[in-house]
Amino acid sequence: MGGEPAKWVSMVTARTPTNIAVIKYWGKRDETLILPINDSISVTLDPNHLCTTTTVSVSPSFDQDRMWLNGKEISLQGGRFQSCLREIRARAQDVEDEKKGIKIKKEDWQNLHLHIASYNNFPTAAGLASSAAGLACLVFSLAKLMNLKEDNSQLSAIARQGSGSACRSLYGGFVKWIMGKEDNGSDSLAVQLADEKHWDELVIIIAVVSARQKETSSTSGMRDTVETSALIQHRAKEVVPKRIIQMEDAIQKRDFPSFARLACTDSNQFHAVCLDTYPPIFYMNDTSHRQDNQLCREMESCRRNTSDNVQVAYTFDAGPNAVMIARNRKTAALLLQRLLYNFPPQSDTDLDSYIIGDKSILQDAG
Ligand code: ADP
Ligand code: DP6
Ligand code: CO
Repeated sequence: MGGEPAKWVSMVTARTPTNIAVIKYWGKRDETLILPINDSISVTLDPNHLCTTTTVSVSPSFDQDRMWLNGKEISLQGGRFQSCLREIRARAQDVEDEKKGIKIKKEDWQNLHLHIASYNNFPTAAGLASSAAGLACLVFSLAKLMNLKEDNSQLSAIARQGSGSACRSLYGGFVKWIMGKEDNGSDSLAVQLADEKHWDELVIIIAVVSARQKETSSTSGMRDTVETSALIQHRAKEVVPKRIIQMEDAIQKRDFPSFARLACTDSNQFHAVCLDTYPPIFYMNDTSHRQDNQLCREMESCRRNTSDNVQVAYTFDAGPNAVMIARNRKTAALLLQRLLYNFPPQSDTDLDSYIIGDKSILQDAG
C-alpha cells in the first residue's frame, strides 16, 4: 500500500511556580541578553496557587512553531522566545521511544516544529510575575522534551533570556539571581540559597487588588527607569549590594524582623525609583497604598521594626497587588481576619480576591 509514514507526536507537560522578589531586579545593562544591574533575591511560591502549566509537543506533521497562552494564540516571533528556542535547540540531544516509534537525532531538532500550550492559573501581566513562571516553565518543559543534559542553574541562564525574573523560578525555596560580570552573560544565573524546607513556617498571602493587565510592562518600565532616573544607579551600586548580604544572612538565621525590614524597604525603594522615572510609573494604586498603611499600622510592621515584634512583611511587584509574608500560621490567620474586615473582596475597596499559600517547591511534572 505504501502511503504516508506513520506520524507521531511527542509531548511533555511541566508545572512551574512563580517567584516574588524580596530584593528586586529593576534595570538591565544588556537588553538582548537580559543582564541586570544588580543581584536579586526571591521566594518561590506554592505551585498549587500561582503557577504556569505548559505542554510542549513536537511532530513531523507540524509545519511551524506555534504557541497558545491561556487558550489564545500568541506570536513566537519576539526576540525573547526566539533566544530561548535557539539556546535549547542548540543543546538538544537524541530522543528515542521504541514503543511509540519515535526516534529523533539531535540534528533533527533544527527542522522539527513545536506546538506549545501554556496556562497561568493566576492573572497574566498584572504584576504577579507571570513572565517568571511562564518563561521558566517553557524552558524547563522544552529541556525535558529535547532531553537536555544541563542542570537547573544552566537552564536558569536560558530562562533569563526569556524574562529576567524567570531564571529564579528554576529553583524552589529562596533563590538569588547573581548578576554576573561577563559581557556574554555566562555567569548571570540563579542559585538556590536555601531549599523549600528552610523556614517553612512562613505563609504568603496575596491581595489581588486588580487582576487587570498593567499599563506599563516590566520590560518597558525598567528601560525608562534606567534611561531617566537619577536614583537608580545609586540603588544598584550602593544600596542593593549591602541589602543582598543582609538578606542572605536574615534568611539563613530566620531573622524575621530583619527579613521584613529589608523586604519592605526594598519594595518601597523600587516604587520610589518608579516615581523617579520620567514620565513617572505608578504601579501601586490607592487600595495598595491603603493596604500598605494598614499593614504598617496594625501589624507592628515595617515602620517600627526595631522591636522583635514584627509579624508581617510586604512587597509590591510591578503592579498594585500586595504580597504579604506572615511570620507563621497564627499571624497569617490574624492578618487575614483583619484584611477581610478592612478590605473585603469585591466591595467598593476595589479588591478582587485573596490567594493564600505556603512557600513551596518547584514541581517536575515530567
Ligand atoms: P508580570 O508582572 O505578570 O510578569 P510582565 O510585563 O513582566 O508581567 O510580563 C507579562 C508577559 O509575560 C506577557 O505579556 C507574556 O508575553 C509573558 N508571559 C506570561 N505568562 C506566560 C506564559 N505562561 N508563557 C509564555 N509567556 C508568558
Ligand atoms: C518588579 O523579569 O518581568 O518583578 O526581564 O524585562 O522580562 P523582563 O522583566 P521581569 O521584571 C521583574 C521585575 C520585578 C522584580 C523582580 O521580579 O525581581
Ligand atoms: Co514579569
